[in-house]
Amino acid sequence: MRPVEIKRDVYWVGALDWNIRDFHGYSTPKGTTYNAYLVIDEKITLFDTVKKPFKNDLIECISKIIDPKLIDYLVVNHVEMDHSGSVPDIVELVGPEKVVCSPMGKKALVDHYGRQDWPYHVVETGQSLKLGKKTVSFLETRMLHWPDSMMSYIAEDKLLLSSDGFGQHWATSQRFNDEVDVAELLGHAAKYYANILLLFSPLVQKLIAKVAELGIEIDMIAPDHGLIWRKDPGRIIQAYEKWSRQESSRKALVIYDTMWQATEKMACAIGEGLKEGGLDFKMFNLKFSHRSDIMTEVLDSRALVLGSATINNGMMPAMADLLSYMKGLRPVGKVGAAFGAYGWSGEAVKLISEAMRGIDINLVGEGVRVKFSPKKEDLNRCIELGRQVARAALDLDVSGLGASARS
Ligand code: FEO
Repeated sequence: MRPVEIKRDVYWVGALDWNIRDFHGYSTPKGTTYNAYLVIDEKITLFDTVKKPFKNDLIECISKIIDPKLIDYLVVNHVEMDHSGSVPDIVELVGPEKVVCSPMGKKALVDHYGRQDWPYHVVETGQSLKLGKKTVSFLETRMLHWPDSMMSYIAEDKLLLSSDGFGQHWATSQRFNDEVDVAELLGHAAKYYANILLLFSPLVQKLIAKVAELGIEIDMIAPDHGLIWRKDPGRIIQAYEKWSRQESSRKALVIYDTMWQATEKMACAIGEGLKEGGLDFKMFNLKFSHRSDIMTEVLDSRALVLGSATINNGMMPAMADLLSYMKGLRPVGKVGAAFGAYGWSGEAVKLISEAMRGIDINLVGEGVRVKFSPKKEDLNRCIELGRQVARAALDLDVSGLGASARS
């Protein structure tokens, strides 16, 4: 790719990964980008690198502006390998005067690459570095997304280089938010939030408050993945504010796996009850839906009704996978219930209910179990379960961070 000047003397010099389809368990059907930024000033500074297989894309892109050997400073905002994978090659090629990182960043770079001898320049929140006409200041953002993470801010350009924050996994030939479909962009950003940052929502709220407290003016947000927020960057900050509060809408999800369609029939009846009770709902058969797409839907859902047939005294493997993934991401403020068909032992409903309690989902009743195939009265019980879940969901505060919130 050719470099793109995003502000005067600030260039996007990253790489496009059109083909990645799995990002540590997160489905990326439209690929991703690894964004790096080059500032041309008295001290030529590269912010972040790219995933190692894309090292040559980065070097070729930089070479269209300057000889990479002229780079003075390398800022490592985040050490996860999609951004730092090319750091050893760049340090070797460039021989930078400084490798700038957070205190945790230095530890992580040493842990990853075993190099104590790099010219580390450790910075903390509030510290700054003069590049010439431009000055960059740093904001540590621990756990957004790793302990080492930080953001860089160039006051002269009102430009926030936000690392993982505000990113999206979406490879496009466009570089700016105003060049693409906004609804699709926000969908990718929501998926990114739901699957990468949801569990750190309290920290996101603190970060937004800190940015307000510091009075940082933001004209553009340039993340390390996806599109740059050039037009109305406040829109994605507002979206993060909303997502971090885990505000839910009148929406339920019915998620299930089924062996011989008995559990699927139950799912349909539960949906009927949810709708009668006043909740919109979406159905997801785990055979056809990826866990990361489901988590995106969980983000603003108020009720989760999870079902599985019993297999080998347990639940179907895809349901166990989803529950494990969801537990790690810690959604809050949900109500729900479990259901499922069985042949002789029927443990799945109990096991799903226990797992849901472990995610602090407020359970409505004991769930519904059906032997082999649901009869009319069984389907009526499922409809009634849907109605009960809808009533409980509508009783919740609109804010998901109500009584059931965790800090
Ligand atoms: Fe895009 Fe946490 O790395």
